[in-house]
Amino acid sequence: MKQIGVHVTIAMDGPAGSGKSTVARLVAEKLGLLYLDSGAMYRAVTVLAIQNESENDISKLIALVKTCHIEFKDNGKKIFLNSEDVSVQIRTPEVNKLVADVAKVPEIRHEIVKHQQKIGEEGSIIAEGRDLTTIVFPDADFKFYLDASVKERAKRRFAELQAQNVDTTLRSVEAEIKARDEKDISREHSPLRAAKDAIRIDTTGKTIEEVVDFIVAQVTFKLTKDQNNYTEG
Ligand code: DC
Repeated sequence: MKQIGVHVTIAMDGPAGSGKSTVARLVAEKLGLLYLDSGAMYRAVTVLAIQNESENDISKLIALVKTCHIEFKDNGKKIFLNSEDVSVQIRTPEVNKLVADVAKVPEIRHEIVKHQQKIGEEGSIIAEGRDLTTIVFPDADFKFYLDASVKERAKRRFAELQAQNVDTTLRSVEAEIKARDEKDISREHSPLRAAKDAIRIDTTGKTIEEVVDFIVAQVTFKLTKDQNNYTEG
């Protein structure tokens, strides 16, 4: 694992199934960065809503979010909500269905974004989600936007779910992905879009390793160049 000597922020956005989480996790390992899965935080808030039966009471949920404690452990692999490990709960079909509606509430986003920016101040980081390159870290050192065709994204999600023995069909996974895309892209606050200065990567037909290697090469090339310019200057 390489260790980056300077404070670096890498922000990455893209739709569901574009490969962001797997890629970001591997880049984090290769470069010795902290990995921030921002979607997991909105999922944890959704668990909070379910636990407190406040899915339909947004004011109550906003108050709960302001006082809740969300923490990552094991370099982003585990997420704790008020000291409870909810890493498995955040991936249930119930949460999948509700999360986009929770994530569209501006007051909830405001609290979560503050928390993410604080994590970013603490050390070098790779953060992925829907608004990391545009809202959370608009001045990130590196910005990437990952995408892939709906069919490819559905196939990847379906394979993941099959591996977890979840009973579903490719057709229903594709429909769920399309519905989530629609919600993420058309919502009023912080819709999913590529930042103008983000490097776009179409991952259709590419392996995870190819995408990871491309990002690591971009980052190390620029950091080495900056370092050389600094030494020469
Ligand atoms: O990446 P994911 O599938 O775990 O994200 C779960 C939901 O949270 C998804 O509907 C989009 C939303 N989300 C968001 O609004 N902003 C982010 N930065 C990350 C996720």
